[in-house]
Amino acid sequence: MDLSELVNAATGELSSIDSADQLEAFRVKYLGAKGLLKQASDQIKQIPADQKRAYGQALNQAKQTITDGFLQRKAAMDAQPAAATGVDVTEPGRIKCDPYRPGALHVIQKTIDDLIDLFARMGFSVADGPELEDEFHNFDALNVPADHPARHPMDNFYLDLPPGDAPLMLRSQTSSVQIRVLESHKPPVRIIAPGRVYRPDTVDATHSFMFHQLEGLYVDRHVTMVDLKTCIDLFARSFFGDQVRTRFRPSFFPFTEPSAEFDVQFGGADGSSRWVELGGCGMVDPNVLRAVGVDPEVYSGFAFGLGVERIVMRRHGIADIRDLFQNDLRLLQQFI
Ligand code: DAH
Repeated sequence: MDLSELVNAATGELSSIDSADQLEAFRVKYLGAKGLLKQASDQIKQIPADQKRAYGQALNQAKQTITDGFLQRKAAMDAQPAAATGVDVTEPGRIKCDPYRPGALHVIQKTIDDLIDLFARMGFSVADGPELEDEFHNFDALNVPADHPARHPMDNFYLDLPPGDAPLMLRSQTSSVQIRVLESHKPPVRIIAPGRVYRPDTVDATHSFMFHQLEGLYVDRHVTMVDLKTCIDLFARSFFGDQVRTRFRPSFFPFTEPSAEFDVQFGGADGSSRWVELGGCGMVDPNVLRAVGVDPEVYSGFAFGLGVERIVMRRHGIADIRDLFQNDLRLLQQFI
């Protein structure tokens, strides 16, 4: 067979090959030990001496072309092994850096999880309530008077509803969960309620329009202020270390009587120390118990609320609350 005809025939066959079996048959036919190229090379004996050289060169050329064509076809077929399922599992990923980095919990969620573990050891279980609240749960049942400044539209996110509809708001405090729980559970009740709260504060290094609180509520017979103080003290020392001290400062909240704000004393590296306010607390006001049908002559309780961001910032030396919500990996990765 003429060598250029051989090359043409081989090239034509190659282009219609679409299975591994056909490709192997092609290899045997042209490139095999008894294949057509071998036969063509055996013919060299019959070629006149003066044409041998040209024939040898053409033969090498033909071998090269057919071998290259074969290898190309093979490579192309190897690259699409899963055509039947439409998924090429051999395809490399497209992301150039760190394609397999797993996700991780945000430092705020981690802190909430730590707090849940800690309070669980003191017998508290986790409760939650809706972030979209009505005024009864966010204010009325918590003994907040109708004309109390905390209800002002400028200080809350009320929904823009048609006139006549009962007002709805993004809850401004997790204290609303106290009411939700007491409505559906008879005392004894011992819960914590971590969650988001919303206030239209101007954003700066220590304020955000959304932040997290952790509410605590314990209602039973004979609960006293001593139980409250013990609980806060245990929490502070377990969380921040045995050396920290706590103090109560008299304060006022509509839903507790008496009320206090509690501070934790942190020592500086230089031996200095400073008091940092962590939250509010107090004995549940009898009016709150009455609002949910619990007899204040039989039951008493304590409640507290802490700011989660404040704890995170203090624990990790973060100076600006905005850093917690910007989702900058350089900050987040430090807490994986
Ligand atoms: N709800 C209060 C606030 O957002 C915090 C608070 C104070 C919660 C005293 C309580 C409490 O349960 O007893 O400022």
